[in-house]
Amino acid sequence: MRRVLDLFSGTSRVGHALKARGYRVHANDHNAYAHVLARCYVAADARRWRASAERLIAELDRLPGRAGWFTETYCVRARYLKPENGARVDAVRTRIAELALEPELEAIALTSLMEAADRVDSTVGLQMAYLKSWATRASRPLALRVPELLDGQGTASCLDAREAAERRSADLVYVDPPYNQHSYLGNYHVWESLVRWDRPEVYGIAMKRADCRTRASAFNRPREHGRAFRDLLERLRARWLVVSFSDEGFLSLAELRTLLAARGRVSERAIENPRHIGHRIGIHDLKGRVVGTPGRARNKEHLFVVEVGVARTRSRRRAALPAGPRRRVAALAGG
Ligand SMILES: C[S@@+](CC[C@H](N)C(=O)[O-])C[C@H]1O[C@@H](n2cnc3c(N)ncnc32)[C@H](O)[C@@H]1O
Repeated sequence: MRRVLDLFSGTSRVGHALKARGYRVHANDHNAYAHVLARCYVAADARRWRASAERLIAELDRLPGRAGWFTETYCVRARYLKPENGARVDAVRTRIAELALEPELEAIALTSLMEAADRVDSTVGLQMAYLKSWATRASRPLALRVPELLDGQGTASCLDAREAAERRSADLVYVDPPYNQHSYLGNYHVWESLVRWDRPEVYGIAMKRADCRTRASAFNRPREHGRAFRDLLERLRARWLVVSFSDEGFLSLAELRTLLAARGRVSERAIENPRHIGHRIGIHDLKGRVVGTPGRARNKEHLFVVEVGVARTRSRRRAALPAGPRRRVAALAGG
C-alpha cells in the first residue's frame, strides 16, 4: 500500500479522500483542533469505532443544555453561537471530558461536536469576527451527527511540520502550508478552545485565546517563511512531492519553482479560485462604513508536482509524468 504524508492537514479533507482511495495516510497539523479532525477522519478505523461512536453520539445528543464557560465567553460576551446552543456545547463537551474516552473515540465525539457547532454558528466561516445580526442558521438547534468514518487504519500527529517530516518518510508528501500572515489558530480559535477545553484567557471583541499572540507559525511570518519552507523541503523523504501554493503568498512563484527544482523534476498546474469571503463583503470600519477598495476578485492556487531526484527537463511546466502517476496526482488535487 502506498504511503502518503499530509504535513499541514487542516480539515483532513485531503487525507480522508486519499484514505478512501486506499492509501495509507499519516496526517499532521500543529493545531489541536486539526489534530482531532485527523484522528477522526484519517487515523480512526470505522470497523473498530463505528458502533461505539453511534451509541455515544446518540447519548450525547440527548443531553440538555447547561451553560458554562463556553456559553459565557462565546455566546454572551461574544456572539458566535446563540446561548441555547452554547449551553448544549458546554453540556456535551463536559460529558466528553468526564468519560475519559479512548483517543480515537474522543476525537470522533469532538469532531461531531465541532461540526454541529459549525452548522449553527453566526460567522462567515472564520472566527476573526462574528456577524452583527444573527445568521439564520444560528436559530436552528444544535444536532450531533456521526462523522463520515472510513474503514482502515491511518495515523496522525500534532507536530511542527518540519519535525513531522524529519520523523517520517512516505511515497508521496503533500505540502499545503499557510502562505501569508493569516494564522489558522486565530481563524479557528473557538475550535481550539473547544478541543483543548483549557478555559484560556481571551482578548478583544473576537475573544481570541491569549496564545494566538505567541503560538504563531514560522510559515505565517514574512521574515521566517522562506527559511522555514527551505528547511522543510530539505527534510522531505519521498519519491513524489505535491506542493500547493497561492500566487498571493510570501514566496513568489519564481522563488518557489527554484526551491522545488533543487529537489527534482517539477510540473505545475494553476487552478483559479474566488478569493476569501472578506473580499465580497468589502472593507469596513468599526461603525460598518465602507472604507477601502478590495483587490482582485480571484486568485490562483498552484499545484506543483516534484519527482524527487529526477533531473529537470527543459519545460518545467509540463514535465513528462507517466499517465498513472499523473492520474493519481490529479486525484490528489481533488480532480
Ligand atoms: C492551508 S492550511 C491546510 C489545509 C488543508 N490542506 C485542508 O485541506 O484543509 C494550512 C494548515 O497548516 C497548519 N500549520 C501552520 N503552520 C504549521 C506548522 N509549522 N506545522 C504544522 N502545521 C502547521 C495550520 O494549522 C493549517 O491547518
